[in-house]
Amino acid sequence: MNIEHLKKIAAEKATEEVRNGMVVGLGTGSTVYYALLKLGKMVRDGLNIVGIPTSDGTEKIAKEQDIPLSTLAVHSTIELTIDGADEVDVHLNLIKGGGAALVREKIIANASKRILIVVDESKISRVLGTSFALPVEIVRFGWEATQREVDKICGRSDVRGGIENPLITDNGNYILDCHFDGISEPEKVELQLNNIPGVVENGIFVDRADKVIIGTSSGIKYME
Ligand code: A5P
Repeated sequence: MNIEHLKKIAAEKATEEVRNGMVVGLGTGSTVYYALLKLGKMVRDGLNIVGIPTSDGTEKIAKEQDIPLSTLAVHSTIELTIDGADEVDVHLNLIKGGGAALVREKIIANASKRILIVVDESKISRVLGTSFALPVEIVRFGWEATQREVDKICGRSDVRGGIENPLITDNGNYILDCHFDGISEPEKVELQLNNIPGVVENGIFVDRADKVIIGTSSGIKYME
């Protein structure tokens, strides 16, 4: 079945949990995109929400969709966040950051009471780090030294985009895509990476998702 259709049915299903008056965390990526379109339609039909976006890209789409926006300065708590993921294991641990928004996504996740993850079935994995390279956001100063330390943990990493034309995140940093041969202890690796000077954040999300909504060729499935 068409993968875009699987993304769309998962994302639209998540919007059914959005209620009037909610502060909603707006994730980033090609799957959440369909949730933003649906939320825009719901707002135009009278739904009263404010969204807090996880990236400049999502902010732009939300504005185009007439979704009122706010910030964490105004709202300390987010009732519900809808976000995507690059890899999901059976314990609902995630790899995120394929869209380079992992720092803001983790800040939003940390402020959220409830998190719905929307994916197509290709994202489900037995062990994290076997089908997707782990994104790690690092500051530009001294990036070579930071990469050497990161590589001691993962083995090998690449600067996203290549150092001639590196991707710069919304926060002005680089992304290292780290090639693990499976991450058997995600909680430990998340902390180890974040302990390296120069690392801003990494894309391992442990124990954050409340429900994963999966678009499959035989309909919607859930993990919770
Ligand atoms: C953004 O940085 C990511 O965490 C995305 O949520 C993740 O990459 C999923 O994106 P897609 O829905 O485009 O696969």
